[in-house]
Amino acid sequence: MSKVHNFSAGPSILPQEVIKKASEAILNFNNLNLSLIEISHRSKDFVAVMDNAVALVKELLEVPEGYSVLFLQGGASTGFLTTVLNFMKENGNAAYLNTGAWSRNAIKEATAFGEVTVVASSEDKNFNYIPKGYSIPDGMDYFHITTNNTIFGTQIKNIPTPKNTLLIADMSSDIFSRKINVSDYAMIYAGAQKNMGPAGTTLYIIKDELLGKTGRTIPTMLDLRTHIK
Ligand SMILES: Cc1ncc(COP(=O)(O)O)c(C=O)c1O
Repeated sequence: MSKVHNFSAGPSILPQEVIKKASEAILNFNNLNLSLIEISHRSKDFVAVMDNAVALVKELLEVPEGYSVLFLQGGASTGFLTTVLNFMKENGNAAYLNTGAWSRNAIKEATAFGEVTVVASSEDKNFNYIPKGYSIPDGMDYFHITTNNTIFGTQIKNIPTPKNTLLIADMSSDIFSRKINVSDYAMIYAGAQKNMGPAGTTLYIIKDELLGKTGRTIPTMLDLRTHIK
C-alpha cells in the first residue's frame, strides 16, 4: 500500500529517510545495543543528537552570534507564558497583533500577567486579513506577532520591524517555510508539530543579552536563562 498523506496542519508528514533513521535509532542507537530512548539524556551519544539538532537550526536559519537555540517542553502554548515572564517588565505593557485564535490565546495569557495593548485586530472579519497601517506606542516591552495563523490561513508577508520595541514571533506553522532574518527578533518560538517534526518539543531562538531585564521572579524552569545555562 502506498504511503497515506496527511494534509492536516499538524502533526506534519516527515520525510521517509527521517522515519527510517529514527526507527533504526529506536532499535539500536549508534551500535550501543540500546535504544535512543533507553540511554541517558545526559550521555554523550544523546547530547550529540541535541547538539546536531541545534547546529542544523543555526545553519538553516542562519542564526547570528548571540542567539541561543533551545528545544523545550510545554508546546507553543507555554511559549505564550514564557514570552511574558521573560520579556514583560513587572508592571510592564506589551503590544500584540491579534490575527487569529492563537494570537488571541497569547494575548489572554499576557493579560493575566500584565498590561496588554492590542495594536490592531482582524477579529471583526473573522480573522480573514492581516491588519496594516497600525502603529506601536512607545514604552512597550515587546511587540508579539503570530507569523502564520494556522486555523485562518493568513500569513504576515511583510514582517514588521518596529524601531521602538523588541519583536517576538510565534512561528509555529511557518517556520522553515521561508527565509527569515533572525536578527530582527528578540525571540522566535514554534511548536515542532507543524513544520519540523512530531509534537512534544518547542523550538526557541532567543537573543541572550535581552534576558534578565524584567525585574520579575521567574519560576526556574520557565526562566529561559536556566535552559541556556
Ligand atoms: C500558530 C500556533 N501557535 C500556537 C499553537 C499551540 O501549539 P501547542 O499545541 O504546541 O501548544 C498552535 C497549534 O496549533 C499554532 O498553530
